[in-house]
Amino acid sequence: MTTERLQAAIAKARAKRDTTGRIADPSPADPDHVAASPSQAAQTSDAGRWNDLRAAEIDAETLIRNRVLSVGSNRDSTPFDILRTRILQRMRENGWRRIAITSPTPRCGKSTLALNLAFGMSRQPDRKIVSIETDMRRPSHETLLGIDPANRSVARFFDSRSSFADTAILALPNLAFATNSSTEAQASDVLLGSAVGPLLAQFDKDYAPDVTIFDTPPLLANDDAMAFLTHVDCALIIAAAGETTAKEIDQCERLIAQETQVMGVVLNKSRQGGSTAAYDYY
Ligand SMILES: Nc1ncnc2c1ncn2[C@@H]1O[C@H](COP(=O)(O)OP(=O)(O)OP(=O)(O)O)[C@@H](O)[C@H]1O
Ligand SMILES: [Mg+2]
Repeated sequence: MTTERLQAAIAKARAKRDTTGRIADPSPADPDHVAASPSQAAQTSDAGRWNDLRAAEIDAETLIRNRVLSVGSNRDSTPFDILRTRILQRMRENGWRRIAITSPTPRCGKSTLALNLAFGMSRQPDRKIVSIETDMRRPSHETLLGIDPANRSVARFFDSRSSFADTAILALPNLAFATNSSTEAQASDVLLGSAVGPLLAQFDKDYAPDVTIFDTPPLLANDDAMAFLTHVDCALIIAAAGETTAKEIDQCERLIAQETQVMGVVLNKSRQGGSTAAYDYY
């Protein structure tokens, strides 16, 4: 699907849902709103592998229903856009390309945010973005994206039983999602595997993504995320307002700092200003 087509579908779905016209259509005035052509990825020199990825149709209604709101620039995408821009600036300043999204405990909103960041970052069409669903115990990306399960497995990619191409779909010409169609009981063993480092290095060479987003499991729930943090340049902590405690955030920060850089803490589900998608970033 092209960026333009998905944005048009989103605008249509919004218009159908919101008869007040409260939400603006993707605005051409947005500096990040540059329409991508399907051939754009093909124009880059490292496009060979990228173009082998299978394209999947993404359903606009499903994205909106699942709070994935940052495909185009609009009022609801603003909190994600601000966060995305700050993250990209910091990554660029430090030469970082891999970011983990984690939280102290389950259900803080990691996957929702990971997908919003992925779509938000991909609005710059010359930027290639990959999202890898590194949470193998509670996979949700296929549901959030509304794509049919197809035996995809990040666990199999991480221990070299499957290729990245077998694990990923292209949602937009410059945006790929590697997802899990089922759960993986041996998640921490897979993430601790000695093959993961070299495999990701090869993946970087083959696909040359500008940013790779890893939606990792909750840090305090088990040792899956800790096992993986050594492979990323930085990690963002998602806390849920009214649920996550200061002590949990502190614990998380200390654990992350043992392996990589702390990007910051996002307070999700904060109802300040009446928005259900409020993000406060520290
Ligand atoms: N800003 C928000 N406001 C209200 N609800 C939200 C917000 N962000 C996410 N949610 C909801 O919270 C629930 C958990 O979100 P999500 O699946 O993204 O969290 P998660 O941290 O990935 O969970 P898990 O630990 O199970 O992987 C979902 O129902 C989601 O729609
Ligand atoms: Mg999740």
